[in-house]
Amino acid sequence: MLLAIETSCDETAVALFELSQPLAPGVPYETVLLGEKLASQVTLHEAYGGVVPELAAREHLTALSPLVRTLLEEHGTSFASLRAVAVTSGPGLKGCLLVGYSYAKALAYELSIPLIPTHHIEGHIFAPELDDPPAYPALALVVSGGHTMLVRVSGFRQYEILAVTRDDAAGEAFDKSATLLGLPYPGGPALSRQAEAGNPEAYSLPVGVAHDPMSFSFSGLKTAVHRCIQGIGNAIEKPEVLSNVAASVQAAIVRALVEKTLTACEMYSPESVIVTGGVAANGFLRSRLKEELSPLGISLHVPPMKWCTDNAAMIGVVASKEYWMKHPNLDSFNPRTATETASEIVSSGVRARWPIDEL
Ligand code: KG4
Ligand code: ZN
Repeated sequence: MLLAIETSCDETAVALFELSQPLAPGVPYETVLLGEKLASQVTLHEAYGGVVPELAAREHLTALSPLVRTLLEEHGTSFASLRAVAVTSGPGLKGCLLVGYSYAKALAYELSIPLIPTHHIEGHIFAPELDDPPAYPALALVVSGGHTMLVRVSGFRQYEILAVTRDDAAGEAFDKSATLLGLPYPGGPALSRQAEAGNPEAYSLPVGVAHDPMSFSFSGLKTAVHRCIQGIGNAIEKPEVLSNVAASVQAAIVRALVEKTLTACEMYSPESVIVTGGVAANGFLRSRLKEELSPLGISLHVPPMKWCTDNAAMIGVVASKEYWMKHPNLDSFNPRTATETASEIVSSGVRARWPIDEL
């Protein structure tokens, strides 16, 4: 079995997989997700209007060990059945990464099994493989509270970053605009709910960098929303006005994301488009992309909500691909004699910043 751990931000998440023997030589073995557990910290950070890194790290410290034990117990298994342990080693909040990483490192060292340090964004990109595997080459739009990027994915470990944000992430733009509108934390879901009854064309809000069509920029939106609210004055308290501003903000962010995705589709003719990260939960983004991609014959893959936001199942998917690459024959591989288990485990570390094309 493989245990996967994710603690890069504000969710403590663990997942358990079974790695079964390949049916024929050269065929990847099947990876079956047995179960997963998650402890969310949303209520802890609510009072601060955002994730407080130090509090998040402390919370991981208390949550992680009981979560792993419960997961193993629920599946009638124990540490002794683990063949490998996968953990997010970056990018993310350093203190948070260190909690999961130190735990995984100790476990791998004690059990003499391989430690598989895993890239968080690579996890998000491969999350659709859990239930709706896309055809490659694909374009992946990764949109969360910390990241906004468009990646060309030719296959596993074949990535080219096409566009990144110059400043705020798309989720951050949702969250900051929601705060300006007096909506509750987390802002993205609250803003999109408020937008449901609104007119997306009520206000014109600019997003982006005019001279660079392949980069995202959301920091100007904050100022535009602030000015817009000032111009409206007390009328912002009327629910219909608030909904109109929310709908216009959402439309502006989504327009920027959809436009760049379509430009990249024209340039690279992918088989599929993957949308992942917390903002992929946004219904308006999903429906706009579907409308645009269907006529082009490009399939859209958006994982279910629990695998869009941070989770450990996506980490397990990537780790099992890597494990398969390194150990194509489960029978002949003896984890207890693997050289990577001792010195490499002890000397390895986390990377708060880690561009995916450096993998
Ligand atoms: O992937 P995620 O759970 O954590 C990070 O790694 O950042 O993403 C969280 C982000 C937050 O900014 C949140 O406001 C945004 O995803 N989000 C949404 C929606 N649901 C979550 N943004 C827009 N519409 C939503 N429905
Ligand atoms: Zn994430």
